[in-house]
Amino acid sequence: MQEQIKNIKTLEDLQALYVATFGKNGTMTARLKEMKNLDNDARAELNKENSTLRELFKVRQSELEQQALMAGLQKQKLDVSLNPEPENTGTLHPITHALADISSILESFGYELWTGPEVEDDWHNFTALNTPMHHPARDMQDTFFLPNGNVMRTQTSAIQIRSMEKKGAPIKMFGIGATYRKEMDATHGPMFHQIEGLYIDKDVTMTDLIGDVQEFLKRFFEMDNVELRIRPSYFPFTEPSIEVDMKWRGDKWLELMGAGMVHPDVLRNCGINPEEYQGFAFGFGWDRLAMLKYGLNDLRKLYDGDIRWLKNAGF
Ligand code: DAH
Repeated sequence: MQEQIKNIKTLEDLQALYVATFGKNGTMTARLKEMKNLDNDARAELNKENSTLRELFKVRQSELEQQALMAGLQKQKLDVSLNPEPENTGTLHPITHALADISSILESFGYELWTGPEVEDDWHNFTALNTPMHHPARDMQDTFFLPNGNVMRTQTSAIQIRSMEKKGAPIKMFGIGATYRKEMDATHGPMFHQIEGLYIDKDVTMTDLIGDVQEFLKRFFEMDNVELRIRPSYFPFTEPSIEVDMKWRGDKWLELMGAGMVHPDVLRNCGINPEEYQGFAFGFGWDRLAMLKYGLNDLRKLYDGDIRWLKNAGF
């Protein structure tokens, strides 16, 4: 039997012999059934024979499998002239790239990153920001209201409130995240991303604001110099309020961000004494900055999830 196993040439034959030996009606199976009639020595002998045979089957099986594998490999030809399939490795989304750049610049200026919930209550999104219930400035932002009176955050300014409530003054923070408004065209989507900066201390001034904004833009766009235009504006949470434009490619002015000195009422709402502390805040959309930096022309494309478009755009 042992020789027979060793000489078997195919896996099929081996399988057949295995069944004939250990199968339901196999020879070994039959002998094992009669084991109770044997004396101790004969039993031990039979057990040994049983396990030796099983082991032999196993060894022969792996030998034959190995042979089959090698034979198969020899038949295969590798055509090294074929171009390999390009690998489809994932990359970071442009918005993620922009966020990483923006965060590392602001952190290098000493701003600390804060986040907040996207479903906000009225207090943090509006009221604490000096925009009480019937304030006309609420119409500046087309809000998604939830049935319980909460809103989808319309502005990351809500995060500055949360940070001041929690940490008080002095504080130098930036908040980032998704914001939501009922609007949709090539440069606006119902969801977009904002960055909010805030710096409150004893003698922070508008000049500090403009300096930080200018340096930030220089680094983000990797330009030697950026030309800014400061226009007076209105936001309920800043007084005075400004809008910052940037000269783009030598010819046109781009509106980039809103900013201003934080309104004393906003500080008071967060438990900070405006007689002692003052400072600035600024806010802007970072999808827009990403579009400018990477030369993209339709904001909605950023969120379509179309990999062909992302690859075409160089990502
Ligand atoms: N929250 C404003 C908006 O969404 C942007 C903004 C303007 C933020 C001025 C500020 C600020 O902090 O000072 O339109």
